[in-house]
Order: sequence, then C-alpha cells, then structure tokens
Amino acid sequence: MNRISDLERKYVNEVLDNAFASSKNYSFVTQLEKEFAEKFNTKYAIAMVNGTVTLHAALEAAGVGEGDEVIVPALTMSSTNMAVLFANAIPVFADIDPETWTISIEDIQRKITEKTKAIIPVSIYGLSSDIDAIMGIAANHGLTVIEDDAQCFLGYYKGRIVGSTAPMSSFSFQAGKHMTAGEGGMVITNDPELAVKLRRFSGLGYGSIGLEKGRISKDDIQSPYYERHMMLGWNYRPSDLCGAVALAQLERLDELVAVRKNAAGLLKEAVEGYDWLVPQKNPDGYENAYWTMVLKLDTSKVTWEDFRNKFKELGGDGIYGAWMLGYLEPMYRTQNFMGREKIIACYGNYKYEKGLCPIAEEIQPKLLQFKTNYWNEEDAIKQAEVLKKTAEYFN
Ligand SMILES: Cc1ncc(COP(=O)(O)O)c(C=O)c1O
Repeated sequence: MNRISDLERKYVNEVLDNAFASSKNYSFVTQLEKEFAEKFNTKYAIAMVNGTVTLHAALEAAGVGEGDEVIVPALTMSSTNMAVLFANAIPVFADIDPETWTISIEDIQRKITEKTKAIIPVSIYGLSSDIDAIMGIAANHGLTVIEDDAQCFLGYYKGRIVGSTAPMSSFSFQAGKHMTAGEGGMVITNDPELAVKLRRFSGLGYGSIGLEKGRISKDDIQSPYYERHMMLGWNYRPSDLCGAVALAQLERLDELVAVRKNAAGLLKEAVEGYDWLVPQKNPDGYENAYWTMVLKLDTSKVTWEDFRNKFKELGGDGIYGAWMLGYLEPMYRTQNFMGREKIIACYGNYKYEKGLCPIAEEIQPKLLQFKTNYWNEEDAIKQAEVLKKTAEYFN
C-alpha cells in the first residue's frame, strides 16, 4: 500500500484546476471538516494549520488566559505545554501512570489549585487517558478538558472513538501522524458556542464566519460598510491544498491506521516473554491506535544505547527515545518564554526543575519508540524479526 494514493493526487489537482477561485477556495477544507466530524462522532470540526495552534485556539475558546493554570502531562511532545504559554497561562506538569504512561489521575488531583482552569490529557503513543475519570474531576472542580489526540486516530475508549468525550479534542496532520497533509490540524466539539469561538479565533475574528462555512461571501466583502472583525483572531486557516490531501487521507484512514496497528501487533508479539521489555499497557476497554509501539527497557540489564545499536546492527530501523520531559527542557529551566515569564512571576513562584514528576523522570529515559508506519507489510515483519533477535541476544 502507498501512503499517498491517486485519491490525494486527484483532489490536489482539483484544487489546482480551480486556481483558488473564491467560489471554490476552501471547498476541500469544508468537506474535510464535515467528514472529520462524522468520522469522530462529533457535531463540529474546525481545521487549522497544525496541531499546536489547535490547542492554543481551544484554550482561548475555553476562556483560559493570563494567570490560569493548565495541567498537562510531563510526558508528551512539547506543543501540549507550549500552547498553554501561547495563551499566557501557566503549565503545571502532572506525573504519568507507571503502566499506561498517560497522565496520572492521582497527580491531577494533587496539582489542582484555585487557579486551575483546564486539563490537557494526551493520548500518548495512541492510547487514551482515563478520560471518564478526568471528566469527573473536571466536573467537580469546574474545569474544562481539552484532549490532545495528535497521536491518536481511531483509538477507542470504552467503546467510544477517542476524541468524542471531552468538550474539545485536538488532532495533528503533521507528516509523521496517522493521516497527514504535511502539516495541518483539527479541533472537534459538540458545543456550537465553542465551535464559533474556535472558528473566529482561528480566522482573524471574522464575523461572517459561521459554523460550517470557512469563508466570507462576496457580497459581504465587497461592501465598504462591511464590519469584518468581531474579535481579535489569529490566522490559523489551512490552505485548500492541505484540505485536499487531508480529505483523501481521511477517506483512507481505516487502512492507514490498520497498517500501524498491524505493525505494532507484530512488534509486540516479537517481545512476548521477555519481562525486561515491557510494552505500554492497554487497560481493558482501551484500543491503542499505535502511532508508535513503545517498550520500557530494564536499563539495569541493557543500556538504551546498547539496545538501539544492536537493533540497528541487526538490520533494524532507528529507535526513537521519548521526548525530554517538558519542564526539563532548557526553555523551562531558564523560563525563556518570550516575555511571558514576567506574567507568570506575577502569579506565583513557579519552578520547573527535577523532582516535579518522579515516575515520568524514571520512565522517560527507558522508553524505546518503534516506528509503525510500514506501508509494506514485509518491512514490518522484518523489523519484528530483528527485534526478536535483539531481545534474544541480550536475554
Ligand atoms: C502529542 C502532540 N501534541 C501536539 C503536537 C503538535 O502537532 P503539530 O506538529 O501538528 O503542531 C504533536 C505532534 O507533533 C504531538 O505529538
């Protein structure tokens, strides 16, 4: 199977043939939004340029702003916590569950203060957080929940498609994701008020932008009396070229995701019985979308580097380490937040340093992230064989 098929090419050619004429421009983005909402069992979908600004827009739509605290997991790609800073809010890092590696429910409870406004659980590697428990905590404390599902397309949680539970959920179409347009992102919601806010916030605050319509009518825009801007907004709108590619990918999403789930299955099977290589735990009722298949290595037996080197030597692809925990990155240690550090200092003495999330600190350096995007099944089978040989070598 090819990752990019004739369908993507056909749609892109239609966009080019239409030459971005105003009557046709955004028609693929509009169709993408409609079909995405249907696929993810929600009412509204708002497309944006990537899966970072989607989080920023969602935070703003939820009314999160200066001095508010937002709880984020320690283990995630940095966009999750950077978006909080975009909104002039304060990232508060919560630890992870030792087995699923998603945000710890107990630590969320410990980290809530009177300044907490939102929680951003991340479906890390393709596995949902315990979203019902998080929604329960949020209801008790009057908080909003924004799911970061950049890595989770067609994952399931207790029979529900991941992304359909929280008030807003964010997805990424960046090149490494389950479906891609090179870059791109989407926010989904069932709430019409949030949908309008998301639309305006990501579309320069244009007043004429309704729920399903991502553009302004000619009559409106040609009038000298037309009042355009209802609020401050960013321009986070994706191009119709992205819309065309993403729409084709969405229409092929089942097969794209099946490739990753199949590869993950083969890789996991290869390490069955080696108790020093522990896969991410999928609790009952959770279906992992396997953006990547991840093992926790017992580094007292084999070092991370030795394992990776041997795997590569035997013919394996590269293994990725997990991202450094957000608060241990230089930008947090030095609070180099483009001036926002001054805002944060007004609200408390926030310190980003070792010791904040001990479980994540222990686990992060042990994680081995294996690729699952093998469009040719033979490649996945070969990688699984190499993984088995590597495990056997060190056993
Ligand atoms: C968990 C998570 N959140 C957010 C993002 C940001 O998405 P994007 O690269 O589209 O901005 C990514 C992807 O890179 C991600 O993995």
